[in-house]
Amino acid sequence: MGKMDNRIVLVTGGTSGIGASTSRLIAQEGGTVIVVGRNSERARIFCEDCEKSGIKVNYIYCDVTSKEDISNLHKEVLDRFGKIDTLISNAGMLITASLEEITDDEWDKMYATNVKSAMYLCQEFIDEIRNNKGVVLFNASINGLHNYIKGRRSYMYASSKSALIQFSRYMAKNYAPEVRVNCLCPGMTETNLFTNKDYSRFADCNLLGRMAKPEEIARVALFLVCDDSSYITGSVIVADGGETIK
Ligand SMILES: NC(=O)c1ccc[n+]([C@@H]2O[C@H](COP(=O)([O-])OP(=O)(O)OC[C@H]3O[C@@H](n4cnc5c(N)ncnc54)[C@H](OP(=O)(O)O)[C@@H]3O)[C@@H](O)[C@H]2O)c1
Repeated sequence: MGKMDNRIVLVTGGTSGIGASTSRLIAQEGGTVIVVGRNSERARIFCEDCEKSGIKVNYIYCDVTSKEDISNLHKEVLDRFGKIDTLISNAGMLITASLEEITDDEWDKMYATNVKSAMYLCQEFIDEIRNNKGVVLFNASINGLHNYIKGRRSYMYASSKSALIQFSRYMAKNYAPEVRVNCLCPGMTETNLFTNKDYSRFADCNLLGRMAKPEEIARVALFLVCDDSSYITGSVIVADGGETIK
């Protein structure tokens, strides 16, 4: 008996990093997992890799910044899987720039990916999720919560993640009691979000002296979408190795 038996779970950005680890874990727990992303080759490799370890994960192409793609995604999910009860809005991106360097295009792209996509997804899927008494989880970041910011170039990332945190609270309030909605705020995690793979430069960023492995964040995500967290909604859950108080 798995923690996610009989659940149909959509994971945006489920082909890499935190999303991929979460998808794998949910599938291991019996959930039917649909991962979404733009890079079909990466998705193919991920799905094959899962299959080799005896897990099935399904891929549907979708650019989460496109309202049309999300509408098509909804149709395909219903055609192929009949319903959906769990949404993990995880896709995100990071561009750092000083105030002077920020361009309109970068600002719009960051907000479209990190915030507007969550709104599109909820507009499209929330009725279905409410009918199925389901769960929504947003993946924000500790960067959206910090009362001080260590990096000086995170204007777009930090502010977009703060917006996502507030969006999640409104979703929780407006769709209770049928839907549980929570927001996860991971600290720095070893994923493709960072092009520079020298993770040791962040060794002293938190109390544990290292970045998180994606699997460690995935276990928190699983907890938040399965019935183990049945009394948690409207919460912002931090998993940052103590970065907030360092
Ligand atoms: N790594 C960290 O330190 C950290 C810390 C806190 C929060 N987070 C958050 O965790 C989430 C996952 O990031 P990650 O660290 O796992 O990074 P990652 O390995 O780079 O994964 C990002 C995922 O998002 C997908 N994606 C990006 N833009 C998309 C779009 N327009 N449409 C569809 N999919 C899109 C990517 O797939 P395609 O490229 O194929 O589209 C990829 O699967 C993000 O929201 C990130 O902000 C990360």
